Amino acid sequence: MGHAAANLSVSSSQELITWSDSLSVGIQEIDEQHKILVDLLNKLYLAIREHHGNEATVTILDELVDYTRIHFSVEESLMRILDYPDYESHKHHHELLIEQINELRRKVQNGKHIGFELLHFLKNWLTKHIMEEDMEYAPHMLKKGVKANYEQRSWMDRLFHRR
Ligand SMILES: [Fe+2]
Repeated sequence: MGHAAANLSVSSSQELITWSDSLSVGIQEIDEQHKILVDLLNKLYLAIREHHGNEATVTILDELVDYTRIHFSVEESLMRILDYPDYESHKHHHELLIEQINELRRKVQNGKHIGFELLHFLKNWLTKHIMEEDMEYAPHMLKKGVKANYEQRSWMDRLFHRR
């Protein structure tokens, strides 16, 4: 019975976020990076669901902060190179998001229990980031000559599976 009650507040899905085409901005390179962020949030979800403890959670949050920084700097470089008119406000938004995850990380490190509300906060920030912010710059980048698909290997492949 306790189990059934718990299921009312927590989705029975194994994933916090399931990637779908509705999250695609239409630029494969960016989509691949967003998928990595989705994977990290799902990893965090699993760690919390299965009570892996604060130390494991902090490790995942570290990965999330690091990868989010990488992803945001890729986006910011692209926006700058391609003269995206809303660059400043998008960059500001990125800074706020990084601050929020860092804050969360600090709380967990200080022993605070991270609950499902916080996971929902993270889920919202990522889906909002993609669906509201990134969807806006995508048409600009495509118009400026960014390729929708890469013909050869992704940057991950180039970095980690170099021949
Ligand atoms: Fe993004």
